[in-house]
Amino acid sequence: MYTRIRSTGHYVPERVLTNQDFERMVTTSDEWIRARTGIERRHIVSPGETNLDLCEKAARSALGAAGLGAEDLDLILVATTTPNQVFPNMGVLLQDRLGGHGYPCTSLESACAGFIYGLAIANSLIQTSQCRRALVVGGETLSRITDYTDRSTCILFGDGAGAVILEAASEPGIIATHLHADGAYKDLLYYPSGISLGFDRLRESRDFIRMKGGEVFRVAVNTLSQLALETLEAAGVTSTDLSWFVPHQANLRIIQSIAHKLGLPMERIVLTIADHGNTSTASIPMALDVAVRDGRIQRGQLLLFEAFGGGFTWGSALVRY
Ligand code: ACO
Repeated sequence: MYTRIRSTGHYVPERVLTNQDFERMVTTSDEWIRARTGIERRHIVSPGETNLDLCEKAARSALGAAGLGAEDLDLILVATTTPNQVFPNMGVLLQDRLGGHGYPCTSLESACAGFIYGLAIANSLIQTSQCRRALVVGGETLSRITDYTDRSTCILFGDGAGAVILEAASEPGIIATHLHADGAYKDLLYYPSGISLGFDRLRESRDFIRMKGGEVFRVAVNTLSQLALETLEAAGVTSTDLSWFVPHQANLRIIQSIAHKLGLPMERIVLTIADHGNTSTASIPMALDVAVRDGRIQRGQLLLFEAFGGGFTWGSALVRY
């Protein structure tokens, strides 16, 4: 039993923050942001718009592309670090929005690698016949935990959601997934508040994403380059066999460094960072859907997904689309 990607979808909120907008908010410049990150604009939720709204639209887009409804699913996984509420989990809330009933739904918080973790878990459940068709969503509203007075982080993040429908197939599909984590890096990239730590201090001031950008950058480049080689080697393929590399869109320079180490031309990399910014766990399914819908990604092509984020957590998936 194998798993294939049946369809994809994504959604970005209508409101856009450009680099020029940031020039009016903090001491920065369009030139600096483009040169250091590759970002030109990012989509941001409006007041009252939530992550669940984004996830619902991305999920409906993937269901629509497959000609399926919520009753045709038997699993929903939502990867996110910005859930609407602590419980019910985002998977259950999404199932309710879509009109499904009875089958398992949950969410997982693995920062930017969450979608890859979700893909690996859904793949395992399909391969062991515990479900036949899964909706896996990555959705974030990072703007809700971004400090718009901190120029070193606020220019990076955007909101959005991406979704895939996975289903049982007689041929792979998902060829291999590799997952990793190392909590020794927990202080380099984190959001400091949570339920068990207590929300008392939040009443006095909001908490925000904290990041030691330079250190994250260095570890991300080395780790992701090694991970790509590990994944390709384990599958007995090389970077020349890849049709498309669909990386987590955190920083164009990180992606360029990995491409250089792999000997992969930039023309074979799906890049959405200029338009989306860093949308954490949503970035890979969003980029995937963009490239599927504009015709770059075709059936039968070999794709490599790779993500790295807070924890650190990181993971890859090698996929025959
Ligand atoms: N505009 C202008 N100057 C800035 C800005 C800004 N927006 N931000 C920082 N600077 C300044 C700094 O203050 C510093 O000035 P100084 O030299 O006078 O002290 C200078 O620019 C260089 O700062 P660095 O932090 O060294 O800049 P760097 O080139 O490392 O770029 C960045 C910063 C873009 C954050 C980079 O480190 C990065 O992308 N890191 C990795 C982020 C990442 O991948 N996170 C992982 C995923 S996170 C997630 O997905 C949720």
